[in-house]
Amino acid sequence: MDIVYCSHTGYTREYAQLLGRAERLRVYSLEEAKNQLEPGGQVFFFGPLMAGTVTGLKEARRRFDVLGACGVGMSPPSPQVLETLARRNETGELPLFYLQGGWAPDRVGWLKRHMVQMVTRSIRRQLEEKGEGRTPEEQVQLEFLIRGGSFVRPEKLQPIRDWLAAREEPAGTAP
Ligand SMILES: Cc1cc2nc3c(=O)[nH]c(=O)nc-3n(C[C@H](O)[C@H](O)[C@H](O)COP(=O)(O)O)c2cc1C
Repeated sequence: MDIVYCSHTGYTREYAQLLGRAERLRVYSLEEAKNQLEPGGQVFFFGPLMAGTVTGLKEARRRFDVLGACGVGMSPPSPQVLETLARRNETGELPLFYLQGGWAPDRVGWLKRHMVQMVTRSIRRQLEEKGEGRTPEEQVQLEFLIRGGSFVRPEKLQPIRDWLAAREEPAGTAP
């Protein structure tokens, strides 16, 4: 299996490369994969979220045998985020993961920056209104929404690594 990813501002690429290094799998951008991999080859796909859509996933599924996929967004992970992701992207039975990447307002164009700022405005306002009453976590969240930052951590890949390991176990070894 190879790893294929799409990435606009680099966070999804970071996760793809971290997984590739940890699992000794080759990593390709979707563009590279289209030129270098055989159609129908088995891949694990990483793509950034844009308005709930995992960028590149549809194209990757048309072209390759996508065995699992991971959406990377700016929201903190939750079961609800994953459920919405599956529904919006019509992934059905496809093993699906979600990881928090980052937010880089200075690496996206004006329109995209404004789209995100509009969506996050009410949460930003709520946090700003708390003033001195903000918890340290809320302070981190507010600064993240305003200035951006990265939540990419290698250990967050563990659920995907566990899933990969379970796939490799020979049949019949389960207790
Ligand atoms: C136009 C736009 C729409 C976005 N929509 C979502 C979204 O629906 N959910 C989410 O969690 N993050 C959303 N994000 C944040 C990105 O998914 C996040 O910054 C991600 O880490 C980007 O990955 P990349 O650096 O690989 O491009 C959006 C960002 C932009 C610019």
